[in-house]
Amino acid sequence: MAAPGTSLTIAAMNTLTSSSASTLPRVAVLATGGTIAGAAPDATNTSGYQAGVVGVGQLLAAVPSLATVANVQAEQVASVDSKDMTLALWATLARRVNDLLASDTVDGIVITHGTDTLEETAYLLHLSVKSDKPVVLTAAMRPSSALSADGPLNLLNAVTVAGNAQAKGQGVLVAFNNRIHSARDVVKTSTYAVDAFQSPEMGALGWVQDGRVEFQRRVVRPHTTATPFSIDSIGAGWPAVDIIASYAGASRIAVDALVAAGVRGLVVAGTGNGSIHASVQTALADAAAKGVAIVRSSRVGSGHVMRNGAASDDALGFVTAGALNPYKARVLLMLALAAGHTTPVALQQVFDTY
Ligand code: SIN
Repeated sequence: MAAPGTSLTIAAMNTLTSSSASTLPRVAVLATGGTIAGAAPDATNTSGYQAGVVGVGQLLAAVPSLATVANVQAEQVASVDSKDMTLALWATLARRVNDLLASDTVDGIVITHGTDTLEETAYLLHLSVKSDKPVVLTAAMRPSSALSADGPLNLLNAVTVAGNAQAKGQGVLVAFNNRIHSARDVVKTSTYAVDAFQSPEMGALGWVQDGRVEFQRRVVRPHTTATPFSIDSIGAGWPAVDIIASYAGASRIAVDALVAAGVRGLVVAGTGNGSIHASVQTALADAAAKGVAIVRSSRVGSGHVMRNGAASDDALGFVTAGALNPYKARVLLMLALAAGHTTPVALQQVFDTY
């Protein structure tokens, strides 16, 4: 496998004339690992495989028709199982995306990623990439060695979307199982199905099939170039933000330990409309009084979390996450704190906007 940092240029292949190749969009594929780059000892094994062991050159070679949709260049940025995604790798990836998109030799980017934290990486980039060129994440639920592996078609579709003019200005997209989702809306909703990504409440933005791309709606909230967030503002280190959950019998132990450890923000995966067990809520109120940013989200999986009025959120200094799940709310809270938004009023404005 290519070592991280390796670049490859996949020459337009002999199915194309040089003139048709020169009119194709130029798409950079950045590989980070995941099941799409996974391999198992046999083709019927889709659970006991190793993620991130197949290099980007091999992934591209498995899809010869890529040469009919784009001039592809590729880089192995990392080779990780995305459960092990790090903040340092996020920064490396975001900077590489920004550098490539600033060049006039790249029209769009595809990032191959593990499915497990794809929605977090996608939203981070949606908020921090500084270009309106398409950035499309894709992945696979079955390793590359599997019968009916889904990675090759997902990769072809992602490159097709990244090279399509309609994808410009829509922020970061996820192309998966023929659907195109906004990074803000999309979540993983199945542990095994190839249709593992959905956009609850909102629905997909559109679809891609057999080279055709169709958007049914456009992204409304500001993103990429229209946000104040930048990966460069993270210079001194990411603000420490953790996630805790509310559930029957929950106690304040976790909140108190995290506050003692110095967290700057806590996202709570609450019940229902972000409601919180009384013991946890008291601890969170104490934390807010010490200046820790508290964001209420929901563990439900769809819907949004509304502010609950003067007697509660206003009095306690809590912020609500709207339709963002806890993991995405954490991404936004980290970027907002890094950008200097620290009061509940300023943070609520951020959550209501992005
Ligand atoms: C990962 O997230 O890297 C492994 C799981 C997957 O890609 O489906």
